[in-house]
Amino acid sequence: MKHIFKQGSDQAAPVLLLLHGTGGTERDLLPLAERLSPASSVLSVRGNVLENGMPRYFRRLAEGVFDLEDLRFRTKELNEFLDSAAAEYGFDRSKLVAVGYSNGANIAASLLFHYQGALSGAVLHHPMVPIRGLELPDLTGVPCFIGAGSNDPLCTPQETEELNQLLQGAGANVAVHWEPFGHQLTSSEVEAAAVWYKEAFKD
Ligand code: MLT
Repeated sequence: MKHIFKQGSDQAAPVLLLLHGTGGTERDLLPLAERLSPASSVLSVRGNVLENGMPRYFRRLAEGVFDLEDLRFRTKELNEFLDSAAAEYGFDRSKLVAVGYSNGANIAASLLFHYQGALSGAVLHHPMVPIRGLELPDLTGVPCFIGAGSNDPLCTPQETEELNQLLQGAGANVAVHWEPFGHQLTSSEVEAAAVWYKEAFKD
């Protein structure tokens, strides 16, 4: 998969996995990594599905309606890519923390839903429930931040709460942060994620 790897100055810090929104690239979220954990190594991956020329991580049938077969396939593909990237760049596979926005947050949530130990934490900006009816792996103690907008037409407050319940039900430590806006990622949400991150990964 097309990606950027940046070696960080602190090998003990979590490695940040950056996952952009629909139509984005692997460069989009680099400033977020800088804000969350400037000493971390960064692996930023471009989605390899194209929707009218716009990169995404999996296909959708319509806005908010996912192609679940493709979601499963792409989640597996990304998880395997993470294994090979860890071997290639020599980082600790068990220390990956995803930072995703929108479609990127959805594939991050799908990694959490499908594969035990795929991520050791997640910052999910405007995620949806990626898939329903799955038994989630044990996510005991996995720190998850959900940034949501109370007027987000794509990720409704009900769906945000459903995702929160599903992750908590699997044992994750979830914090939900609300912004009084829509689907956009605001600087105050980024700031809230940074404050949360500092506390969640203080060791
Ligand atoms: C998705 O398709 O993952 C969601 O609708 C968010 C987005 O527009 O990317």
